[in-house]
Amino acid sequence: MSQFDVVVIGAGPGGYIAAIRAAQLGFKTACIDAGVNKAGDAPALGGTCLNVGCIPSKALLQSSEHFHAAQHDFAAHGITVGDVSFDAAQMIARKDEIVTKLTGGIGFLFKKNKVESLHGKASFAGKNGDAYQIEVDNKGEKTVVEAKHVIVATGSVPRPLPQIAIDNVNVLDNEGALNLTAVPKKLGIIGSGVIGLEMGSVWKRVGAEVTILEAAPAFLAAADQQIAKEAFKYFTKEQGMAIELGVKIGDIQNVDGGVSVAFETAKGEAKTEVFDKLIVSIGRIPNTEGLNAEAVGLEKDERGFIQVDGDCRTNLPHVWAIGDVVRGPMLAHKASDEGVAVAERIAGQKPHLDFNTIPFVIYTDPEIAWVGKTEEQLKAEGVEYKKGTSLFSPNGRALGLGKAKGTVKVLACAKTDRILGVHMVGPMVSELVAEAVMAMEFKASSEDIGRIVHAHPTLSEVLHEAALAADKRALHG
Ligand code: FAD
Ligand code: NAI
Repeated sequence: MSQFDVVVIGAGPGGYIAAIRAAQLGFKTACIDAGVNKAGDAPALGGTCLNVGCIPSKALLQSSEHFHAAQHDFAAHGITVGDVSFDAAQMIARKDEIVTKLTGGIGFLFKKNKVESLHGKASFAGKNGDAYQIEVDNKGEKTVVEAKHVIVATGSVPRPLPQIAIDNVNVLDNEGALNLTAVPKKLGIIGSGVIGLEMGSVWKRVGAEVTILEAAPAFLAAADQQIAKEAFKYFTKEQGMAIELGVKIGDIQNVDGGVSVAFETAKGEAKTEVFDKLIVSIGRIPNTEGLNAEAVGLEKDERGFIQVDGDCRTNLPHVWAIGDVVRGPMLAHKASDEGVAVAERIAGQKPHLDFNTIPFVIYTDPEIAWVGKTEEQLKAEGVEYKKGTSLFSPNGRALGLGKAKGTVKVLACAKTDRILGVHMVGPMVSELVAEAVMAMEFKASSEDIGRIVHAHPTLSEVLHEAALAADKRALHG
């Protein structure tokens, strides 16, 4: 029987990074993963993120943005392109190539770092003294490995809607939404969260009529509401996505050639819409299926997440859990950073992960990004704050790019000027937010950002200006 210092279950961005870091720290490490490629005929590392999440969605967002730009934006630059056509199957094939390249890259990294990669479904099988026994089931071929430390990184799966099952033909989860090879005429989406908005943007840009039905009365309730309201206006009024807030979803049925969805609007009106395709994106739930957690007494909370403390320790000695299967935001970078921290804790180090500086990004156009507290949170917590805002509309780089929509808002402590939150909607704010994260990690004040030289002309000048505005000395405001 193979014996390891560390066995990681799951090779998503949490697990594969944890395994690499553990191996780098000198531990004999194995990573067990059950994931398979799109064709279902070969193992595929990388979990949700690489196969059916972050990476494929960003590939489609880029393709659809190019198509949209060719049709709507090129003329302003004096470029005539004639008839522009769109081939959804080619867009998906390009996305698949990127996925294959990156999932294969993890295999290479495992070899380079001497992580043993085991394919199959892992489950807790018992203990041998202090060591945990983990069974690996590869299509019925079973082996058992032993581990001194186990890191559970089994991720999450889509939350099902009780009214209808996902078939990925007409009723789609993220996997189906990322693999449509023809543009649906009418696309319905349940849930205007991150997946709903990103996938809605992709298929809207290439010609679908998109309707998003959202249960919550507020749009992007977790985001700063000033930024969320501005984004809502762009997505609905300017881009033509229909987003109905505060709806109650009723019966959903497969009908001839599509899916019918009955719902009650916020005003109490009963409506039924028939869509060619329906994406269900109402959140994700932790995945512990088949892990046999109960058998070893691995505790979960009331929502099914593996229970962990702030350092990702479970109730079992030397068993850790990270990523989507534990509390906190379901984000790849959060999973990876927890993975690094756990490997280092096993090695006796004292890493620190600040949950308050985890950035959030939504890759719509314009993008939305933030870090730290929203204005609503600061108000609710009774924190005295000051704010500075700056717009992209007068920014030279944004105008040159033809993407001069959006706002950056800096929130800082009224007494100390320490930055408490930065919220953005605008071009490439997914990249701009990194400066805000760094500033908050280093406990910077808005004056600090204001006194840092920012290259001209860049989008980062909008953050600079918002920081100056918070410090009451905006130069262009
Ligand atoms: P996962 O990536 O889910 O990996 C878990 C792995 O464990 C899988 O490979 C699974 O097969 C394996 N596994 C499960 N059980 C077992 C078992 N018993 N035995 C063996 N293997 C097992 N996050 C971002 O930060 N940025 C984004 O842009 C972004 N975009 C997204 C877009 C979509 C459409 C979706 C669905 C998600 C997106 N996310 C994004 C979220 C991100 O994908 C997750 O937060 C991240 O993948 C979580 O990583 P993880 O390692 O915890 O789990
Ligand atoms: P989400 O939590 O972002 O949004 C789900 C939405 O569905 C919410 O607005 C919720 O109010 C709504 N909802 C829930 N039940 C409903 C119902 N019965 N009827 C109508 N609306 C309902 O979840 P989503 O979009 O499914 O994404 C899952 C997770 O994946 C995200 O939480 C995020 O962590 C991750 N993700 C991250 C991305 C990024 O970082 N750019 C991109 C895509 C996903």
